[in-house]
Amino acid sequence: MMKIVSTREMLNKAQREGYAVPAFNIHNLETLQVVVETAAELKSPVILAGTPSTVNYAGGEFIVSMADAAAGKYDIPIAIHLDHYEEVNEIEEFIKLGFRSAMIDASHKSYEDNIATVKEVVEFAHKYDTTVEAELGRLGGQEDDLVVDEKDAKYTNPEQAKDFVEKTGIDSLAVAIGTAHGLYKGEAKLDFDRLKEIRDMVDVPLVLHGASDIPDELVKKAISLGICKVNVATDLKIPFSDAVKKYFIENPTANDPRKYMQPGKDAMKKIVAHKIMVCGSNGKA
Ligand code: 13P
Repeated sequence: MMKIVSTREMLNKAQREGYAVPAFNIHNLETLQVVVETAAELKSPVILAGTPSTVNYAGGEFIVSMADAAAGKYDIPIAIHLDHYEEVNEIEEFIKLGFRSAMIDASHKSYEDNIATVKEVVEFAHKYDTTVEAELGRLGGQEDDLVVDEKDAKYTNPEQAKDFVEKTGIDSLAVAIGTAHGLYKGEAKLDFDRLKEIRDMVDVPLVLHGASDIPDELVKKAISLGICKVNVATDLKIPFSDAVKKYFIENPTANDPRKYMQPGKDAMKKIVAHKIMVCGSNGKA
């Protein structure tokens, strides 16, 4: 029986072998079920990510228990990850509860304060065999309650990235190379030269946030240049919600959640499978 794992092994293997592990933002039982079931069918390692609003909504204990059940049922590496947490005490609380991967997002702070905050989390997390991701630079767009105006978005500086990784001891680095959370207003433009430079300077796995609404070819190129974790939220939320809405339009008197959630699950399943193939993580469990 598998246990919930940290992202250490799965991301290091992805880095060595040149693919990426998908991290899907889950919201409830249904989204978690679809992600793990599809990943198991495709023999892919998988990361289940929960933002603070998800963990508040579903309850940390419930997420840990559901992920535990999934790890017992399926023979693939499954990690549960705290996504975009800004409060050190909350991260500590949820690590004690069973999360084994966390992103501390102090990217809004000054460089020195970002380092100090991240270091504090790393020291705590490593005692619990928990991996830590941090962001340098800042992604624009919206991820649940986190909204970053375009004018406040900042690209990752490669030299600073090297210093940041060395000083904090993080296990993976989220880079800002032109992606944004949510849908794009125009065409997404990724700075691949910057990504190459970061990859040359830094030896930990690199993470691509805001991977929804980006053409597959660009995501694949980012993976070929060193991205080892690809975060997807919006591309699952929209088809899930659209399918449930359509069901209600066609069945206005529907009142059985087991019936009206099913089309949402089916719609998500196709996207999860597709993203796994784009990441190249199928068969890597
Ligand atoms: P998207 O909503 O753009 O897929 O971003 C997801 C993400 O980066 C979660 O951290």
